[in-house]
Amino acid sequence: MSLEKKSAEKSIVILISGRGSNMASLLSAVASGKLPVRIAGVISNRPDAQGLVMAAAHGVPTCVVDHQQFADREAFDTAMAAAIDQLAPDLVVLAGFMRILTDGFVQHFAGRLMNIHPSLLPSFPGLHTHRRALEAGVRIHGCTVHFVTPTLDHGPVIVQAAVPVLDGDDEAGLAARVLAQEHQVYPMAVRWFAEGRLRLADGRVVLDVAQDAAGLLIAPVAL
Ligand code: GRF
Repeated sequence: MSLEKKSAEKSIVILISGRGSNMASLLSAVASGKLPVRIAGVISNRPDAQGLVMAAAHGVPTCVVDHQQFADREAFDTAMAAAIDQLAPDLVVLAGFMRILTDGFVQHFAGRLMNIHPSLLPSFPGLHTHRRALEAGVRIHGCTVHFVTPTLDHGPVIVQAAVPVLDGDDEAGLAARVLAQEHQVYPMAVRWFAEGRLRLADGRVVLDVAQDAAGLLIAPVAL
């Protein structure tokens, strides 16, 4: 890769709280050359997040901003924003980051803060989405990548992947089927951003991607 190309490459910071499987899908998309970004760092609010070990094994710089060390949400978010700003990313990617963010934090990163949520928003914001989908008896469930706004799990939708809810599904089985789709759509959305084909304008998603009858935006299978 030429120096010129490298300097134009966008950088991302990934925020995690736990397992880090979405983070891992981004790392492997980068490693295989399918996602043209530089991962400037992975930051966790929990020192014991499993994803930190995986990121370090990939040679990605990691850091912990432990929310328990801060008196309140504002103080934590200020420290987290400072840690991110040090890495000067073009995009901040929330990947299983389990903290409610203050308005100030969200506004600071407006238009460059992305999240993945395990439901077809606006259905089932919040926790236990798979259990709630089963309880509600929906036939289609899935995941959503969206820009983050101050209202929890509510920002402009970038891409969604749908999966059927099958007779006899339990929470774990449905979660696994949705997670497999998360691992497809998140690298895809980050790639669109990195290629300048995705942005937020006046609170709406502007996407320069062919939207054909094959259902690219419904059940994407690969980058
Ligand atoms: C994923 O289901 C994601 O949608 C949600 O939290 C979970 C994180 O899983 N926000 P992982 O840490 O990426 O494996």
